Amino acid sequence: MKGKTNNITFTILPSFFFSYLSLILSPLLFFSSPSIKGLYFTMEHPSSSSHLRNSCSDDLAHVTGEEQLETIVETAWDPLSYMFQNHGIYDMGVGGDEEWGMVEKKGIQFMIKDQPFYVNGFNTYWLMIFAVDQSTRGKVTEVFKQAATVGLTVCRTWAFNDGGWRALQKSPSVYDEDVFKALDFVVSEAKKYKIRLILSLTNNWEAYGGKAQYVKWGKAAGLNLTSDDDFFSHPTLKSYYKDHVKTVLSRVNTFTNATYKDDPTIFAWELINEARCDTDPTGDKLQAWIQEMALHVKSIDPKHLLEIGLEGFYGPSTPDRVQFNPNTYAQQVGTDFVRNHQVLGVDFASVHIYADSWISQSISDTHLQFIKSWMQAHIDDAEKTLGMPVIFAEFGVSVKDNGYNSSFRDALISTVYKSVLDSTRKGGSAGGSLLWQLFPDGTEYMDDGYAVVLSRSSSTSNLISLQSTRLMLFNSLCSWRTRWGCKKKNALEEFLYHDVL
Ligand SMILES: *[C@@H]1O[C@H](CO)[C@@H](O)[C@H](O)[C@H]1NC(C)=O
Ligand SMILES: *[C@@H]1O[C@H](CO)[C@@H](O)[C@H](O)[C@H]1NC(C)=O
Ligand SMILES: *[C@@H]1O[C@H](CO)[C@@H](O)[C@H](O)[C@H]1NC(C)=O
Repeated sequence: MKGKTNNITFTILPSFFFSYLSLILSPLLFFSSPSIKGLYFTMEHPSSSSHLRNSCSDDLAHVTGEEQLETIVETAWDPLSYMFQNHGIYDMGVGGDEEWGMVEKKGIQFMIKDQPFYVNGFNTYWLMIFAVDQSTRGKVTEVFKQAATVGLTVCRTWAFNDGGWRALQKSPSVYDEDVFKALDFVVSEAKKYKIRLILSLTNNWEAYGGKAQYVKWGKAAGLNLTSDDDFFSHPTLKSYYKDHVKTVLSRVNTFTNATYKDDPTIFAWELINEARCDTDPTGDKLQAWIQEMALHVKSIDPKHLLEIGLEGFYGPSTPDRVQFNPNTYAQQVGTDFVRNHQVLGVDFASVHIYADSWISQSISDTHLQFIKSWMQAHIDDAEKTLGMPVIFAEFGVSVKDNGYNSSFRDALISTVYKSVLDSTRKGGSAGGSLLWQLFPDGTEYMDDGYAVVLSRSSSTSNLISLQSTRLMLFNSLCSWRTRWGCKKKNALEEFLYHDVL
């Protein structure tokens, strides 16, 4: 979101949660307990017994190459006993440190060790800022704790604050150690709750500094700069940014002693939040910057994944795809979804989804239609053209929109989740989605209208939990052996789609 500054209280796991959790898990009991299973399907899904008897079939034929989905289901496997082990229910047997693997990319999927890693995640941009001050630091812990309770496994947040209040980087290469320690705290705390981080390294927008601040620094140093987009091309500004990247990636965490570039808690680096370069609609200027900076990141940190931070607009390189943009302006902002993501060093694609700010501030079904086609277009490109996973890294709806109500918000979230699931079940390129944005209670004054406070939205909370559970089960039931295959595929699909709420 462009403007980022809204609401939240939480009672740990409402008891109904446990009952619906066991309900949605019950399909799995089939593998160890046919009697219960039979009953379940008879009651809930009369047609599914015969469905289950069909062996592995056609749906997975879309999976490319010789790959074939294989669901490894072991009779001894007991999801509940794993899930209740640690911070609540979602710890899927992640034991000690040795299990905290680095996220990798294999083809169009994320992987941790041999398991797929499809993501249900969220954004909370201000974590570092809140961690600076002891009086607000607890909010960081709170949001991770609540997120873990509904099974969210990835958080995207800012690893920058350029100039200004509580700046991390006070001026080029000058850092506030207290703020850096706050970022250390965020990374350390995320790990405690088994949440991985996408860390963004600067902003296209003025919030928290961003490219405008780099330009101010350049002007203060006597450079002749005429536009904020000089950020992308002026050698001195590029060197400022590169130094910042190097400083963050090389940071040794004062809480854990882990160097950021070696820490599996970090899922990925993001070059810049919502890059745009309106002054060069051809896209060449931004393209060159991405090329240079992707190589720079990889030269320092070859282990972590990298994404750009784009909103996903189609540009000049794909005239046949611009029809999927929300408006005609979108193709003139200097970004180009396909071309930008073909840059060497970029590991996965990012897409944001804001039907309200892009199409109309008045809520309508058109928004949901747009979301479906916008997501499908990018999933197809990621699969067929880019050969990489795609993360829907921001999506949401504002309470300030005309016609807003909470059932619309739930419908919007469900639409996004379903598009992801439709891809997941085929082992497809939709790597996951990150809600914009999750807030703990008592942080209303930071809300831009998009904040979801779990304690105040039980229906939304349930939706999130269900998506988490579905993806988590997919992740834990599927495995790369010699190739993907799907032995109990139909059963898994019953689970992925059976609507229990
Ligand atoms: C600053 O740059 C602009 C555009 O590149 C140029 O037109 C102008 O003459 C320059 N000014 C100085 C003082 O060099
Ligand atoms: C980090 O390193 C210091 C100095 O070697 C050591 O005293 C401390 O116990 C270490 N902390 C952790 C969490 O490993
Ligand atoms: C919520 O908003 C949607 C879209 O404007 C509308 O169709 C629906 O009737 C509203 N629901 C309620 C309960 O007000």
